[in-house]
Amino acid sequence: MGLLMTASSKRSAALSGIVSAPGDKSISHRALIFGALAEGVTTITGLLEGADILATGQAMRSFGADVDKQKDGSWKVTGCGAQGFTSPKGAVNCGNAGTGVRLIMGAASGFALKAKFTGDASLSARPMGRVLDPLSEMGITYSAKAGDRLPVTLTSQGKLTPLDYTPPHASAQVKSAILLAGLGADGVTTVTEPTLSRDHTENMLKAFGADVSVKAIGRGQKVSVTGPVTLKATDVTVPGDPSSAAFLIVAALITPGSELTIKNVMMNPTRVGLFETLTEMGGYLRADNFRTSGGEIIADIEVKHSKLHGVTVPPERAPSMIDEYPILAMAAAYAVGTTTMRGIAEMRVKESDRISATVAILKANRVDTTEYEDGFSVKGGTVEGGGMVETHHDHRIAMSALILGLNANNPISIDDSAMIATSFPTFFELMKTIGANISGATIK
Ligand code: S3P
Repeated sequence: MGLLMTASSKRSAALSGIVSAPGDKSISHRALIFGALAEGVTTITGLLEGADILATGQAMRSFGADVDKQKDGSWKVTGCGAQGFTSPKGAVNCGNAGTGVRLIMGAASGFALKAKFTGDASLSARPMGRVLDPLSEMGITYSAKAGDRLPVTLTSQGKLTPLDYTPPHASAQVKSAILLAGLGADGVTTVTEPTLSRDHTENMLKAFGADVSVKAIGRGQKVSVTGPVTLKATDVTVPGDPSSAAFLIVAALITPGSELTIKNVMMNPTRVGLFETLTEMGGYLRADNFRTSGGEIIADIEVKHSKLHGVTVPPERAPSMIDEYPILAMAAAYAVGTTTMRGIAEMRVKESDRISATVAILKANRVDTTEYEDGFSVKGGTVEGGGMVETHHDHRIAMSALILGLNANNPISIDDSAMIATSFPTFFELMKTIGANISGATIK
């Protein structure tokens, strides 16, 4: 049995300060994987040193790349280049990371190798068929646990067949896995997305020298990559993660008197749905000092405590904020009126079933909440609190519950805080810096 690290939060005085969000998780995974594929040395600045990312770094070593932290805090990846990935000796353990395992499966498929992928309890419950099906069409074979769950053993002869694919749901992970496999296919591999998902893979593939074409179609796009190609190393600067900044922003919005500035937040349009929604709810959010860093737009966000009101979130906004609904639901608990969030059934297959886990946080703390198959609605105002929340190995559920407690009538506790380190290893420290009443983890 592992150690359970409980934590709790309670009503806090005004939050304040100027802080930076940790490095973006999506870009950090990609920087390590693309660097490992490339010919030459990639230096990564601002890499998120969360457990998910460290697992991806370890995985890249097992396929043959060198991955090292430098004295100045940057990371150096010496890629496999034209030699390509080779079969790892042991199982490739991707920990809690869906992005890690799915992108690495895609990247590995382009080479003649055999690899076994494993993960923790949460990752082992998540569906892998969404990438294994299209990769099979391109030529790989695999064995998996029932329902296409991990452990998965993937075998490829390299020399894949190009694919023209329309994923059944908006998913950047699926798009990325196919495009990465496309690097090892002979011809043009195309992914058609009816709604655009985060576009970091196509942007970074271009920066690493791949021949990528993107054609906008309505709300979506057609993205193609021409293989076979060996990527060329390039340096990457990782911007602040808007999905982590989200916790700081909502903390300030719901805690009276708060005024907070979060620096270096990535403002890529495929990631800022939450900011748009919180503004519609009456939140004071001002993005300033826009600039470009590492090919992404970044800004500093000023946020102040605000009187929020309920809204209906348009379902088509979901891909630009799919990881942010749990924390949005916490803001909705303090908003006057009803906030309705639907068209988000994908949340059921994240690190946990985030629809039922989010509803359970709110119900345990006596917030009037209705669950639907594809979402939930929250009738907000004040939060009674007093609940003990089950986090289901899910970092975003753990952090959301702790934020909810910052203005609740009674303290809120969580059963385990260990997973927070997957995406936001400095969460407790940062929260303390801004004055949040969140107690450090205790070990049971
Ligand atoms: C991610 C894509 C999203 C998101 C995940 C990160 C990525 O998953 O939930 O946290 O980096 O590509 P899906 O592609 O499954 O929607």
